[in-house]
Amino acid sequence: MDWDQSYRSNETPWERGEPAPPLVEYLESHSITGRVLVPGCGLGHDVRFLASTGCDAVGVDLAKTALSRARAYIEPERGSVNYQLADVLDSGSGIGDGSFDYVFEHTCFCAIDPGRRKDYVKAVQRLLKPGGQFLAILFTNLDDPNGPPFPTSYAEVERLFSPFFVGIRHWKPTRFYSGRENEESMCLMRRS
Ligand SMILES: C[S@@+](CC[C@H](N)C(=O)[O-])C[C@H]1O[C@@H](n2cnc3c(N)ncnc32)[C@H](O)[C@@H]1O
Repeated sequence: MDWDQSYRSNETPWERGEPAPPLVEYLESHSITGRVLVPGCGLGHDVRFLASTGCDAVGVDLAKTALSRARAYIEPERGSVNYQLADVLDSGSGIGDGSFDYVFEHTCFCAIDPGRRKDYVKAVQRLLKPGGQFLAILFTNLDDPNGPPFPTSYAEVERLFSPFFVGIRHWKPTRFYSGRENEESMCLMRRS
């Protein structure tokens, strides 16, 4: 999958021009503080929204075009926003091992080749501080094995993360992008 080509040709059906409604809903009643990494951030709507609540948000993507568009948006007055061009699976990326309080996942896990999901878990573990938290919106209503997006289930996420993370909560949000109603769930885990 050539992600940059998708952005250059505007073939980006995932792009909704606003932060993910389940994240907005979550942050109305919970707070996230410190450094937050958003892997596969695309145009960065979730990054800027997280920063607007006061945290230091770092968006990582391997598509240069996505990040140049992300940087063109006005940054929120609170918190801080940074973007980094990198492959989140690459242990030599220099994103900042052990420096994040949170990783916020939204449509990156389902975008990665399923054969590399263990590498994704290792990357999240490596990037988080000990005790850091993984907050995810899981796009769980996918069934085409020829993705991306590739099929995803909470059961698989739990199985992959459980050797290194303790599950805190798994729930259904009540707000969704139009067309994704009841197709997403959220989970929160802590790096052990
Ligand atoms: C389906 S898009 C979702 C983008 C954004 N999260 C959103 O919801 O608008 C997946 C994104 O992950 C990025 N991506 C895929 N594999 C990646 C990797 N290994 N490292 C960093 N970014 C990656 C792609 O370039 C793309 O922007």
